[in-house]
Amino acid sequence: RLSSTKELLINAEQGKYAVGAFNVYNMEGVEAVVAAAEEERSPAILQIHPSALKEGGIPLVACCISAAERASVPITVHFDHGNSKQELMEALELGFDSVMADGSHLPFKDNILYTKFISRLAHSKDLLVEAELGRLSGTEDDLTVEDYEAKLTDINQAEEFIDETGIDALAVCIGNVHGKIPSKWPQSETRFAEGEDLHALSSKKGVYLVLHGASGLSVELIKGCIERGVTKFNVNTEVRTAYMESLKSPKKDLVHVMAAAKDAMKAVVAEKMHLFGSAGKA
Ligand code: 13P
Ligand code: G3H
Ligand code: ZN
Ligand code: NA
Repeated sequence: RLSSTKELLINAEQGKYAVGAFNVYNMEGVEAVVAAAEEERSPAILQIHPSALKEGGIPLVACCISAAERASVPITVHFDHGNSKQELMEALELGFDSVMADGSHLPFKDNILYTKFISRLAHSKDLLVEAELGRLSGTEDDLTVEDYEAKLTDINQAEEFIDETGIDALAVCIGNVHGKIPSKWPQSETRFAEGEDLHALSSKKGVYLVLHGASGLSVELIKGCIERGVTKFNVNTEVRTAYMESLKSPKKDLVHVMAAAKDAMKAVVAEKMHLFGSAGKA
């Protein structure tokens, strides 16, 4: 492996930009991210969600690793949202360069124990570990603002969490949402401005900040996050939607379906690379 996820995040922090971590489900997805990265001269992270892994299995991981190794720009392979020990222990054997131990569904103390367990195992293999504190809301359009507020990353817990678990990267919940942003969601700077404290803490602890749910965020919010130390943005929905949309126009041959899907995803990925400032950095 030529690069590591840690290296990518260190470079992003020093260069004041962020790296996109794009969820992939199949070969077209992998090729779309790699092609965009090579064209834009950008580093990138290919990430696999447990549900995608269940479907794509080892061939999907192998496809990512092989593409990363052959790419002319730094690309690494990350396991996203590992929320059980078994899932993660299996993932650690598959050749991922970094993993997310997602214990955000657990009570605070249990999240610490879970994350610490995974963190030790992953570090014994020299892999970067990301974990989440707070709880990112899902795709429910009618969740109220209060529901989101209740799950924001608690700065007082964050220090203990980082110290106890030894994680390398912290996924923060500062008003971001997985999936489509609900219409009632306030795209204001205010809640994001609370991220200042997290930025200071992460700098002090040498931990990288990650923002999930980067689909649909405004240019201003993305820039604000980068200014406040976010070095990894997770993007799924927008790329996945581009894929699905491309399937709607009829094509003569399967290879044309594949090519159109790849092009549609590639365009979204390339746009994100410019937005995150990673274009031209590889
Ligand atoms: P979006 O689907 O909102 O882009 O979120 C992606 C994500 O956080 C994957 O872990
Ligand atoms: O506007 C950006 C956010 O404040 C990012 O902050 O990730 O440091 O919490 P944070
Ligand atoms: Zn996520
Ligand atoms: Na989102």
